[in-house]
Amino acid sequence: MRSNRSITYPDCFRLGPIDGSRFGARLEFETTDIDAIVDICNRHAESILQGFYAAQGLMVIKGLQEIRKQPQALVELSRIFGPEVENYHETLTSPRFFHDTVPELLILSNRPPCNHPPPPKPTRSASNPGALAIRFPQQVNWHTDQSYRRPPPDITLLFALELPPRDQGQTLFADGSAAFAALDAGKQQQLKTLHGIHAPSWVGRSRAAVENNEPVLDLLPHQLPQRHPLVRCHPVTGALSLFICEEKQMDYVDGPVVGLTPGVEGAGAGLIRELLSHATQQKFVYAHEWEVGDVLVGDNRNLLHCATWYDAEQYTRLMWRTTVMGNPGAEYAGEPKSWLPRDGSDVMAGMEHA
Ligand SMILES: [Fe+2]
Repeated sequence: MRSNRSITYPDCFRLGPIDGSRFGARLEFETTDIDAIVDICNRHAESILQGFYAAQGLMVIKGLQEIRKQPQALVELSRIFGPEVENYHETLTSPRFFHDTVPELLILSNRPPCNHPPPPKPTRSASNPGALAIRFPQQVNWHTDQSYRRPPPDITLLFALELPPRDQGQTLFADGSAAFAALDAGKQQQLKTLHGIHAPSWVGRSRAAVENNEPVLDLLPHQLPQRHPLVRCHPVTGALSLFICEEKQMDYVDGPVVGLTPGVEGAGAGLIRELLSHATQQKFVYAHEWEVGDVLVGDNRNLLHCATWYDAEQYTRLMWRTTVMGNPGAEYAGEPKSWLPRDGSDVMAGMEHA
């Protein structure tokens, strides 16, 4: 059962719930010295992990501004959350996202060389035009990170270096286990038997690519779309969660759901739309308003997330990201990494436009 009390440890950190949110934990320190913070986190890793999983795999860590001058500290903090912090040079990631010196960091920015565009501006509700759009399809791009790899990464850490104003560029998290639990028993049974097909957004298999008749890219074996259960069992908490992605990151040529009619008009597409709309209702969502120095930790195994629109002409949004893997659950036991070429080819061969 979740406690609403904050606990202050003698080592000068405080771990408690996020005010106003149904899930998520907030971790803060009395010091801003990043070496001291990493040390405290290592010594209290067990309590921090317990707090993380008790809060459905969402944690906001405040006051880590010094990571900017010591990027390796983000990698060290990431190690608390799992056995392997990924090297982005070895995953299906374009080099424009690489950090200059730390291969475990992915850079997300609207500025060159990254040029990562913001999501589209959502359609606003006519009755409440000032409200933040949360639910799909008004808010798009809901996903779990890099689900086109198998096993997919377990946990993502995001560190904010530069931000647009507070009412732009938020990150939203939807609780996939609460969303699954809210479905009726018949629907739950049906979903437990199904698998989704996940694909990179740049290979001509997204909904938009299919609708626009874009060519479907020929892929090397290690780049092929990957299947994942629509319902995942969390290896730590045992919770069952919806595991789905927005239409950009699923395969609308052969899927998006194995065994259901493929294509943008098919039964699989209809099911994904229905589930996205269900899972992203306000009651399942936490909206994070960023402050520089925040690290946001999110569990991809049971949460969906998306960034919201911001004015990329006027503002810079710069984040560093790590992903942690190594405990994807029984479904993936003993599997090799799908994205590692076995034929000597380059990981991103033929994907230079990604
Ligand atoms: Fe993401």
